[in-house]
Amino acid sequence: MTSVNDLRSSFVGYFARNGHEAVPSSPLVPRNDPTLMFTNAGMVQFKNVFTGVEKRPYSTATTAQKCVRAGGKHNDLDNVGFTARHHTFFEMLGNFSFGDYFKDRAIELAWNLLTKDWGLPRDKLMVTVYQDDDEALELWKKIAGLSEDRIVRLGAKSNFWQMGDTGPCGPCSEIFYDHGDKIWGGPPGSPEEDGDRWIEIWNLVFMQFEQHADGSRDGLPRPSIDTGMGLERIAAVMQGVHDNYDIDLFKALIGAAANVTNVDVSGSGNRSLRVIADHLRSMSFLIAEGVLPSNEGRGYVLRRIMRRAMRHATLLGTSEPVIYKLVPTLVREMGQAYPELSRGEAMIAETVRLEEGRFLKTLGRGLQILEAETAEMGEGATLAGETAFKLYDTYGFPLDLTQDALRARGITVDQGGFDAAMAQQKAEARKNWAGSGEAATDTVWFGLADELGPTEFLGYETESAEGEVKALVVEGARADAIAAGDEGFVVVNQTPFYGESGGQVGDTGTIRGDGVVAEVLDTQKNHGVFAHRIRVTEGTLRRGQAVELLVDHARRSAIRSNHSATHLLHEALRIVLGDHVAQKGSMVSPDRLRFDFVHTKPMTSQELAEVEDIANTIVLQNSPVETRLMGVEEAKESGARALFGEKYGDEVRVVSMGEPTGNGLGWSVELCGGTHVRRTGDIGLVSVVGESAVAAGVRRIEALTGTAARHRGNANAAIVSSAAGLLRSGTHDVLDRIEALQDQLKKSERALAEARQKLAMGGGAASGGSAAETINGVTFAGRVVDGLQPKDLRGLVDQAKKQIGSGIAVIIGRSDDGKAGVAVGVTDDLVGKYSAVDLVRVGSSALGGQGGGGRPDMAQAGGPDGAKADDALAAIRALI
Ligand code: ALA
Repeated sequence: MTSVNDLRSSFVGYFARNGHEAVPSSPLVPRNDPTLMFTNAGMVQFKNVFTGVEKRPYSTATTAQKCVRAGGKHNDLDNVGFTARHHTFFEMLGNFSFGDYFKDRAIELAWNLLTKDWGLPRDKLMVTVYQDDDEALELWKKIAGLSEDRIVRLGAKSNFWQMGDTGPCGPCSEIFYDHGDKIWGGPPGSPEEDGDRWIEIWNLVFMQFEQHADGSRDGLPRPSIDTGMGLERIAAVMQGVHDNYDIDLFKALIGAAANVTNVDVSGSGNRSLRVIADHLRSMSFLIAEGVLPSNEGRGYVLRRIMRRAMRHATLLGTSEPVIYKLVPTLVREMGQAYPELSRGEAMIAETVRLEEGRFLKTLGRGLQILEAETAEMGEGATLAGETAFKLYDTYGFPLDLTQDALRARGITVDQGGFDAAMAQQKAEARKNWAGSGEAATDTVWFGLADELGPTEFLGYETESAEGEVKALVVEGARADAIAAGDEGFVVVNQTPFYGESGGQVGDTGTIRGDGVVAEVLDTQKNHGVFAHRIRVTEGTLRRGQAVELLVDHARRSAIRSNHSATHLLHEALRIVLGDHVAQKGSMVSPDRLRFDFVHTKPMTSQELAEVEDIANTIVLQNSPVETRLMGVEEAKESGARALFGEKYGDEVRVVSMGEPTGNGLGWSVELCGGTHVRRTGDIGLVSVVGESAVAAGVRRIEALTGTAARHRGNANAAIVSSAAGLLRSGTHDVLDRIEALQDQLKKSERALAEARQKLAMGGGAASGGSAAETINGVTFAGRVVDGLQPKDLRGLVDQAKKQIGSGIAVIIGRSDDGKAGVAVGVTDDLVGKYSAVDLVRVGSSALGGQGGGGRPDMAQAGGPDGAKADDALAAIRALI
């Protein structure tokens, strides 16, 4: 038997051997197409390569592409469980030529793989061609040797393939397999073609045109090839079974589902087991990509899939969560081909279990209501739209779940009534907003939130994506366009730009579209709507336009590092300072991080060093950073740190990093909506650069990471080495040298002071007076000395008085800033005749000062005008 895994690698290997580049599957959430809900064909990731907009280093490729067809244009959700071949999730095998080979080689490669490598009997195969495509018909005859009765011409409905309303397209040729006469049905084009006997297994599209929105078509730069083969279908053929759900992979999943629900695989519950097995795949792959159940957009489609599976589990008699238990089986079956499943296993299981828990809580009550409302109804009856809406609104029943529950009884739902009830509820909500008296700009954003719903944030998984411009806002009002040179806000349906929240700043980057380029200056979140503040630099940005959104990668990387480092520092602070350390605020920018926390005293340098050491130990661990979605209570029970007083929704993101020390989720576990590094090693380095007080009992630390931390380290090292250069020492001796210099300086200062004092006492030349003179029989010693401080004057005057024994001593000291102090001493025998206070006043006024104070034997004063020192001395002399 050829397993699904063997077939996948056999297909890709065959085309790789034939010169094709084996390209990995692109994500289910299309990054390059805002119009698509989910990737639904192998060619989606190559759409721009076909049209020539994007260049790749290869001209042929092959993929196994994960696809989801649930919601949006292709929606198979309702059929799953009722048919042999419908899936919400499937894999499409394909080979592609971007202007390399065309029809003949495509047919040859396909035919050889099927009939030679895989050995399918030729008489079990038939093909169809587009009605006018004689060329394809001839090629099938020539290359495959098919007779004309095995080639069917069909119209555009089945044999012209189009990606969507716009995009690459062309005629196609489909290959059919005959499952044998035990199954009812006829070949394509026959009246019995809807039967299950002849099954399409491969579609070869001869891409030739590009369809535009206005209905016109251009030729592609060069004719190309896009093919698609459902892996599950070909597996059924190769494994000799008719039903996709009988292939090895589904047997394993259905077996596991039967096991956890305790039912017989072949019993009446088989349909529910199929639904569970199918939906398990789509939910797990979507969650692995970061889509989480919600009430909007893709998250809502996911929730519908999950709840449909959950209802089927209860149909099998379960009343506890069981589907999450199937995740390990899926990972065992598909984890090798899709490592994202293995990596995300724990997170997927947890997300599913939580959603099961939430849904089971209201399911019973909702089903009772449904039962009561429909008890009297017979086949062909219609359930009122309001009832379906109440089930949706109060009990979390998506409309299709209600429809599904009633389908077996032939009861339908009044969808118009459901839509009307929904619209009315929205109108009520709008009325309440309008009444709340918000500012005008806020009204705009409330209106946008109501009209558009929250913007889908793709930035946890990607930094670039395409989006559609849903609204423009200029100066608080809606606008249709923003021209070059102007600023405003743009809202798109999905964005990789992070809107400022939780302390993390908004992203910046570029938005570009056909002929227009805009710089994104900031991103804010207004009531769930992401507002990109932009300046248009080229062209005109218009509402409705498709644009490419590119986040500034370097800046975002730095922000990621700083945010993750904040979590590490938070935990390290608790370890070093104690459990009282609670977060009071934080700021995460590309340049640095700031973290405010409860702590009453300044941190010692040793504590800071310890905190930094611990954080860097986790960085060096290079352990993965993991995000889970959990209920708030459960998250708190798991020990996750939450911001006190913060309002959280029912479901929260829980970010854990570092190897767990106990049996917790990680070394650091926090409720956080921010963006983080993939592994702690990506942070590179954490360097604490500051610690300060912000408020009573609240401290702040600031830190740098990665390149910024390294640059700062280097800058500091450069300062040390320049200092060493100036000091003519090695860097290690810098401190010793500075200490020695400081000692030396102190000694010199002391010597200088002594020398000045000596000078003041007459030991050397000074201006304005000699050592002592006699005026009117009184010994007078007066000097002006530069570089003397006012505080030194009194002591020197005292000494001078002692030296002269009887007389008057005056010292004027001039400091370096040009001011002067004057001190006058009168020996005791002359007190009564002369007053030091009177004398000092005269001196002070000559220096431009006022007053002065002291006693008759000793007084001191000062003045701003040191240049007048000699005049001051003369004025005092004149009084004697
Ligand atoms: N793109 C083609 C399909 O999806 C092959 O059928």
